[in-house]
Amino acid sequence: MNVLIIGSGGREHTLAWKMAQSNKLDKLYIAPGNGGTPSVGENIEVSPTDFDAVRQVVLDKQIDMVVVGPEQPLVDGIVDYFREDLVLNRIPVIGPEKKGALLEGSKDFANRFMDKYGIPTASYRSFAPGQLDEAMEYLKKLSAPYVLKADGLAAGKGVVIARNLDEAQQTFKEFFEGKFGDASKTVVVEEFLEGRELSAFVLTDGKSYKIFPPAKDYKRIGEGDTGPNTGGMGALSPVPYASEAFMQKIRDQVIEPTMRGLRKERIDYRGFLYFGLMKVGDQPYVIEYNVRMGDPEAQVVVPRMKSDLLEAMDAVAHQRLDNYHLELEDDYAAAVILASQGYPGKYEKGKTITMPEDMEKVQVFHAGTKKEQGQLVTAGGRVMAVTALAPDFDQALSTIYHNIDSIEFEGKYYRKDIGHDL
Ligand code: AMP
Ligand code: GLY
Repeated sequence: MNVLIIGSGGREHTLAWKMAQSNKLDKLYIAPGNGGTPSVGENIEVSPTDFDAVRQVVLDKQIDMVVVGPEQPLVDGIVDYFREDLVLNRIPVIGPEKKGALLEGSKDFANRFMDKYGIPTASYRSFAPGQLDEAMEYLKKLSAPYVLKADGLAAGKGVVIARNLDEAQQTFKEFFEGKFGDASKTVVVEEFLEGRELSAFVLTDGKSYKIFPPAKDYKRIGEGDTGPNTGGMGALSPVPYASEAFMQKIRDQVIEPTMRGLRKERIDYRGFLYFGLMKVGDQPYVIEYNVRMGDPEAQVVVPRMKSDLLEAMDAVAHQRLDNYHLELEDDYAAAVILASQGYPGKYEKGKTITMPEDMEKVQVFHAGTKKEQGQLVTAGGRVMAVTALAPDFDQALSTIYHNIDSIEFEGKYYRKDIGHDL
C-alpha cells in the first residue's frame, strides 16, 4: 500500500516510524513532515489544510490510504471532502468526519453530547456573543478556581484556570473580544475538577473499537507542574494509577456511552478518539475529547504496540477492526520533550542541531525540526521527543536523560522531573 500521513509533529513522525515497519507498506509519504520523517518516508511540501493540494498528491502518488494526524484538517472537514469527491471517495481517510470532529472542535458541542449520553464531566454553562453581562454575574456566583474555555480550536491555549474572580472576568472579556478569533466567540465556564489527569485512547472503525494503553502527559512548561500550559512536555505509558478496575470504569462509563452516542448521532467515526480524563477520587470524568492521537502521548503509546499499525488502519478503513488483535510490549515507555527556549511563548528558530547518527537505546521523534541545506535546524517550539522503553519507568527515564546530553542546540530546554511524581 501507498500511504500518506498528514501532519508535521512528533505524533506524525511516530505514526510514520511505526507504519514504515509494516510489510504491507510500499511507499510512505508525509505532508509536510519534518526534519526527522525522511528517515522513514518521503516528505511532500503540502499544507494539511490545503485539501486541493492534498487531493493532487493522492492522485499523483497513487495513494491507497490517508492518515490524518492533527485536528485542524479534521475539523475543517477533510474526510467529508474526500467522500464527496467522485474520484477520491474510494480512498479511505483515517479520522472522523466533520460532525465527529466537533467533539474536539467545539467544547459546547462536546458538553452537550456528554450530557445527552450520560458521560461524566464537569458541570458547565456556555455563553454566546452578547451574553457578557450574564457571564459576569454568573462568575460572581461561583468560587475559585474558575475554568474558562474558548469553544473552538485554539492550539491548546484556549483553556484558562483563573485563580480569582478578577482574573476570571478579565480572561472572559479577552476571549469574548476575540483573543482567539471565532474560536472564543462562545465561551464555556466549567466546574473545576480536582484530581489526577490521564488520557485514554480508542481506535474505532465505527462498529467496534480497540482500547490502546493509557498515558499521562506533562502539560506545564515548568518543573513541578508550574507555569503555562504547553502541547505537552513529556509522557508516560502505562499510568500507574489506572488500575484494571479503573480502566473498566472508563470503559463502562465513558467509552461505551461515547460509542453509543456516536452511533445514535449517525456519526461515521473511523480513527483515534482521545479521552482527556480527570480521576476524581475513584471516578473518571471527561475534561476533553480529542479526535486524534495525542502528542506527545503517541510517542509513548505507539512504541508499545507489538502489532502492525498499518494493518490496524486498514482494518479501520474496511470496518474489520473486530478481527484485529492489538498486541502490546510488556515494557513501560517514557518520553521527554526537548523544546526551544521561550516556548510556549516567543522563541527563536533556525538553531543548528547536532546529535549522534545512531542513538541505540532511545528513539528520537522529531517535531519542530527541518533540514536546511543538509543541516538539521530547529523549526518549532517543541523540537523533538526522546522515547525509551524499559521494564520500569526508572530505567526508561534514566536512559532518556542520559542520552539527552548528546543532542545539542542553542536554547535547549526540557523538564528534568518527568516521572518524579509517581
Ligand atoms: P484542555 O485543553 O481541555 O485539555 O484543558 C487544558 C488543561 O486544563 C487540562 O489538561 C487540565 O489540566 C485543565 N482543565 C481543563 N478542564 C478542567 C476542569 N474542568 N477542571 C480542572 N482542570 C481542568
Ligand atoms: N498532549 C495533548 C494533546 O495532544 O492534545
